[in-house]
Formats: sequence, structure tokens, C-alpha cells
Amino acid sequence: MPEIAFRPLTPITGAEVLGVDLTVDLQPDIVARLREALLHHKVLVFRDQRMDDARQVALTDAFGGATAAHPITNGLPEYPAVLRTALSEERAGLAQSEAGLGATPRRIRTEWHIDSTFMANPNSITILRGVEIPPAGGDTLFANLEALYSGLSPSLRKYLDTLQAMHSRHDPSAPPRADGKSTGPFVALHPLVSVHPETEARSLYISTVFLQSIRGLKPRESAALLDFLLDELAGRDEIHARVRWDQDTLVMWDNRSVAHAGPVDGLLFKEERIVHRTTVVGGLPSGPDGFVSRALKGDLFEALNATAGTAS
Ligand SMILES: [Fe+2]
Repeated sequence: MPEIAFRPLTPITGAEVLGVDLTVDLQPDIVARLREALLHHKVLVFRDQRMDDARQVALTDAFGGATAAHPITNGLPEYPAVLRTALSEERAGLAQSEAGLGATPRRIRTEWHIDSTFMANPNSITILRGVEIPPAGGDTLFANLEALYSGLSPSLRKYLDTLQAMHSRHDPSAPPRADGKSTGPFVALHPLVSVHPETEARSLYISTVFLQSIRGLKPRESAALLDFLLDELAGRDEIHARVRWDQDTLVMWDNRSVAHAGPVDGLLFKEERIVHRTTVVGGLPSGPDGFVSRALKGDLFEALNATAGTAS
């Protein structure tokens, strides 16, 4: 068996993994090694992993059980755990929504976010595979939320430790889900600082897209504090890592301790970009003061196959 090696992308965020073949069933000791590496590096990048959707779902189950593709958007008909995202379709949707408005084209999905925080139990791990990748462009950025938190002053951290935030999403025009489950609205209350269930490290648990307000603050106070924190998230280059995709690149990230943004430049190139996403079921985040996330509206984000793996 080849030696497994990890080549860090930056000193604190992300690593390329060498010597692992994800296209075959993984031995439990390899899964354990990768899980440990994921906790440390937070983003793992695997190159030249030529696989089909069935293999990606099996890989996802090995890490704790695949959820449905998305709480709102349907997965592939044959593989309900797989979310296919084609940039051409997003560009078309954007052009339609901005047609006639004379709007300046905006970038597509550059917003920093943690996946599915509008659910009370967002997925623990996200797995994304490059299926059709342009020659240049379409990179994904990652931000280390533990470093984001630890870079704040002790006094501010102490205050943030006591807060909770409302995350929500409502897509009234979403087509029905194939499995009959509700497409929302979803509203979840999360701690503003989450404690990692495996390492107990604290992360600033923030997102530009789903996080609406901080509970207990006046609207202007909440907006000002979130503005500052989100500026820190986007502006602290030293906590970022950037992943360049190729076809058959597979990236796995710890959705409990990194935020991501991408593709960062979807309107700057013309070619197609298709990625397939799967997600590992997650538990309810908790805060330093013991607050546990709860759903105010909507169901939990559950594993499709209850016998697969162990949730974390
Ligand atoms: Fe995402």
C-alpha cells in the first residue's frame, strides 16, 4: 500500500492528500486516518479520483451516512444523495432574473457560507467532486473558522460565546422534493460560536447568506456586529485557502469548522463547470455555554440510509 502523505495548502487550512485511492472501498483504518487529517487540516483535496456517483455515495456513507442531496433542491433521480450543480444553469437563471433591469452583472455565489445552516443540524462534512471543469476559473475558497475566532480579542470572544443567531431560508418557488419532504421554510437557531463535537475547538459560526440576525440585540446592533464579523471572515487572507479544480478532483471539508465561497469568478469564463456534491449527516451544533441548536421551522437533515456509518 502506498504511503499516505498530506501536503498542506497553507500553514493552517487545507491539504492535498497523496497515496489514497478513493475509487475502491476504503479500509476502516484509512477512513480513520482521513477523519483525523480532516479534523486537523479541515479541507482535504484528492486529485485524479475517477469515480461515478455510486462510488461518491459509498464514500460519503463511509464517513458517517449520506443525507439527501439538499434540504430544498432535488438530487439526481438515480442518486438522491447527489446534488449536481451546473454553472451554465446558474448563469441562465441569473441572466433571466436580471434581464431588463440594467443591473451590473454580479458574481455568482461568492458568498462565504457554511452549508445548510438554515437546518438545525447542518451536514458535518461536505464532499464535492469535479465532473466538468474549465481550463481556468471556478476555484473555491475556504476560511478556517477556528482561526477566525481565535484571532479576535479575548473580551470580544467572551461576549460572542454567549450569543445565538437566527439562520433561515425560504424558497417559495422551489419545486417539490421527490421524496415528499417539505422544502421549507427553514429557520434554525445556532450558537454564534460553535464547539467542535470531536476536537472541542471553537469556531465563529457565521455565514453571509443564511444568518439573519443575532438574538437579543437591536437590529442595528446585530447588523453592525455581523458586518464586522463577516468583514473579518472575508478579509483575513491568512485564514483562507484556495482550491483549484480539475476533472476528478474531490474535495472533502469539515463543514463544522470552515466556511467556503465559490466559484469565485463564475461570470469571468464561458465554459461549463459541473460539480457533484454529497453531504454527511451532522449533529446539532452546541455553544461554549452549552446552548444546543434547535429548529424553529422545518425538519432535521437526516441520513438517507439509517444503517450507514455513525453521525457526528
Ligand atoms: Fe456551499
